[in-house]
Amino acid sequence: MTLEARHVGVELDDRWVVRDESVVCRPGEMTALVGPSGSGKTTLLHCLGLLQAPSSGDVLVDGESTAGWRDGRRRRLWRDRTAFVLQDYGVMLEESVHTNVTMRTRVWSRQASGDPGRLRAALEVTGLADRGDEQASHLSGGERQRLAIARAVYKDARLVLVDEPTASLDATNRDLVIELFRERARQGCTLVIATHDPAVVDACHAVHRVGTASALEAVPA
Ligand SMILES: Nc1ncnc2c1ncn2[C@@H]1O[C@H](COP(=O)(O)OP(=O)(O)OP(=O)(O)O)[C@@H](O)[C@H]1O
Ligand SMILES: [Mg+2]
Repeated sequence: MTLEARHVGVELDDRWVVRDESVVCRPGEMTALVGPSGSGKTTLLHCLGLLQAPSSGDVLVDGESTAGWRDGRRRRLWRDRTAFVLQDYGVMLEESVHTNVTMRTRVWSRQASGDPGRLRAALEVTGLADRGDEQASHLSGGERQRLAIARAVYKDARLVLVDEPTASLDATNRDLVIELFRERARQGCTLVIATHDPAVVDACHAVHRVGTASALEAVPA
């Protein structure tokens, strides 16, 4: 899937926090959104994920404007094709690690349901294999961040939108997460990553600087 912001602007509290941003995020590529703190990376990422409507400009999915999309259409895109890893990780602290990954529980217990093989694989690649039955509130910041990534891996979505995925990780786990995203891209997924981390930026196929209205620059893979 191709995601495109075309001259997107966002006005919040009478202030333009995003101005005239244009970026094309292609399948098979990791696109980095970079820029100083407060430049609007998270806001632009939310616009690209249709979590926030732009005040001006348009967001296109596979070339089609989303301006007229009803709620049902957006929900289907989120449910069937999108995984988000957002800045607060979206972890359900009262639930087990397993449940946080599959987002499903059995009706009469709080035990996680879903595909056990995929669950195991998602926990293994994020280094959480032996933590599945624990309550998510017991995890450290970096472990919660990896849990949010495990959820995205489990979902196997075509579109992966990620906000600062390595902010709480050490170098080993950062490299693990970068490799995970590269593998998703190799499988033809579209990844959009708001980041400050030079190692993540280096791993991306394209870099978009937010706040300068600059064109997309290609970087060597
Ligand atoms: N709900 C809101 N109401 C008003 N202003 C907001 C709101 N959300 C964000 N902003 C402002 O929009 C600007 C851009 O915020 P955003 O979170 O997109 O920046 P960012 O580039 O992701 O920063 P960081 O690198 O610190 O995560 C900031 O100045 C912020 O204060
Ligand atoms: Mg941000």
